[in-house]
Amino acid sequence: MKHGKMYWENRYKGNSTGWDLGHPSLPLTQIIDNLSDKNTKILIPGSGNSYEAIYLIESGFTNVTVLDIASQPLESIKNKLVINDNITTVQDDFFQHTGKYDLILEQTFFCALEPRFRESYIKKMS
Ligand SMILES: C[S@@+](CC[C@H](N)C(=O)[O-])C[C@H]1O[C@@H](n2cnc3c(N)ncnc32)[C@H](O)[C@@H]1O
Repeated sequence: MKHGKMYWENRYKGNSTGWDLGHPSLPLTQIIDNLSDKNTKILIPGSGNSYEAIYLIESGFTNVTVLDIASQPLESIKNKLVINDNITTVQDDFFQHTGKYDLILEQTFFCALEPRFRESYIKKMS
């Protein structure tokens, strides 16, 4: 695989993360602000530094899972949130992950995948 685990680990290690906004994306915060059920089970795949997850936790959401194939951004979010029962961090390949969610939010994950995985992405998401 061209963009496998090592590729992404190296991008984080080399600080080559031009996609990283440094804050939650506005369209996603607008969606989050309109969610009334704080117990909605939410997955953020390809979460990277997970700014949206931090926003969710700070907004009172209780069931948030972030998933990334790379370890470094997940360690970073664990350090930021210390111990918090409302968030689960999973280091895994999205395509191997099993789980059902009420809502999946993502920021620049689909567009980061090799085009040949687009069809599998649609199937896995559904
Ligand atoms: C362009 S970055 C976006 C990160 C974050 N959502 C953001 O906007 O800052 C794509 C992310 O997807 C992760 N990723 C790539 N392929 C993956 C896969 N098959 N399963 C899980 N995560 C993956 C990468 O490690 C990286 O963190």
